Amino acid sequence: MKDHIDLSNLPQHIAVIMDGNGRWAKQQGAARVFGHRSAIKAVREVTEGCAELGVKYLTLYAFSTENWNRPKFEVDALMTLLVHTIRGEIKTLMDNNVRLATIGHTEALPKACQNELQEAIRATEGNTGLTLILALSYSGRWEIIEAVRQLAADVQRGQFQPEAIDEGLFSKYLATGNIPDPELMIRTSGEMRISNFMLWQLAYSEFYMPDVLWPDFRKPHLWEAILTYQKRERRFGKTSEQVVK
Ligand code: IPE
Ligand code: IPE
Ligand code: MG
Repeated sequence: MKDHIDLSNLPQHIAVIMDGNGRWAKQQGAARVFGHRSAIKAVREVTEGCAELGVKYLTLYAFSTENWNRPKFEVDALMTLLVHTIRGEIKTLMDNNVRLATIGHTEALPKACQNELQEAIRATEGNTGLTLILALSYSGRWEIIEAVRQLAADVQRGQFQPEAIDEGLFSKYLATGNIPDPELMIRTSGEMRISNFMLWQLAYSEFYMPDVLWPDFRKPHLWEAILTYQKRERRFGKTSEQVVK
């Protein structure tokens, strides 16, 4: 299946809402946390898969602003898992030439998580392959408000006039800065919503929402997502006749 992927038409940026860990665990008669632990394999597979193909950016929605409202036990378990996973995966990141980055209100994470993240970001900063962006304590509305705040402060300082604000300038203030918008967004588990994820950046992304629960997601699912993306006609408001050459 991988052989059918057209490497000249790869998405540069793939964004994933990794969903379904709790349902996966429930199906096995296990606790939700077991689902989160079992999800690491899927993270590894999708990261390696993107690195193998030459995708430039992969954003994984790992923890939303709203997820802070889950039971404390589950939040604590997710944070502990995050620390252990980052520590354990640095070698895999190095082996695959992957650079780690984050978006989101990471100051809200426990200090141990912040330290581990900083360590991994520093260790991988020289890598030139895939950039893996973890969205942590992230929400699209939070990100937009943050951008507006900084932009307003710069206007107040006289850096530019309000009239100078356009889409290009505003995008630079978002956490994704110079990263291209995702051409492809994948959400697993069959849920048909974006749950406050990359509200600005997903404006023209192709959505692919398979029923597979995140802990079961493997490279073939990624190939399938990319093949589906490559069959879509991206019209950006034009007519089909205009875009078909
Ligand atoms: C996604 O799986 C992981 C996080 C949101 C951290 P869920 O935990 O949302 O799993 P379901 O949706 O309850 O099955
Ligand atoms: C979205 O999943 C957030 C992440 C995958 C990190 P949720 O499972 O939290 O989303 P809702 O609450 O079902 O919309
Ligand atoms: Mg969910």
